[in-house]
Amino acid sequence: MIAIYPGSFDPITLGHLDIIERGQKLFDCVIVAVLCNTNKKPLFSVEKRLEQIRQCTQHLTNVKVDSFTGLTVDYAKLHKAGVLLRGLRVLSDFEKELQMAHTNKTLSGKIETVFLATTTEYSFLSSSTVKEIAQFGGEISHLVPKNVAKDLCLYYSKSH
Ligand code: PNS
Repeated sequence: MIAIYPGSFDPITLGHLDIIERGQKLFDCVIVAVLCNTNKKPLFSVEKRLEQIRQCTQHLTNVKVDSFTGLTVDYAKLHKAGVLLRGLRVLSDFEKELQMAHTNKTLSGKIETVFLATTTEYSFLSSSTVKEIAQFGGEISHLVPKNVAKDLCLYYSKSH
């Protein structure tokens, strides 16, 4: 079974990586799919995010990294995936995630959404929190992969 793990990943955090590592044990292949057509204004370009994710998942042989535009279910169908993988952190995620899962189910009845509960130590973690901490020079090495921490430090040192 192929699973798609869709998201913005701006940038990937250790919470995302935890979901990828646990997900690849459950599925034959996990495709980490970075959404291009988001309304959010991303900090990192899609190319940079792909590079960041590839670097920190290179030890996982059944993980592929790609970008997509349009609907997640269409991308899933294109890749013959049966599952959309998502992490659930706290109760506040639940409403949005459930809405997305139901919407995707109406768009394609054959594709299931599977949620993994985020590991406790990352349950508070989000890409936006990490960016805020990095912006003010706070410690982020325990929150994101090394290569991402480097990219964030570089970005904010150039006085953005
Ligand atoms: O990391 P994010 O920003 O929480 O990920 C959200 C994402 C990319 C999974 C979601 O916005 C998405 O699937 N967008 C693609 C458009 C789509 O399929 N919309 C219908 C389902 S809500």
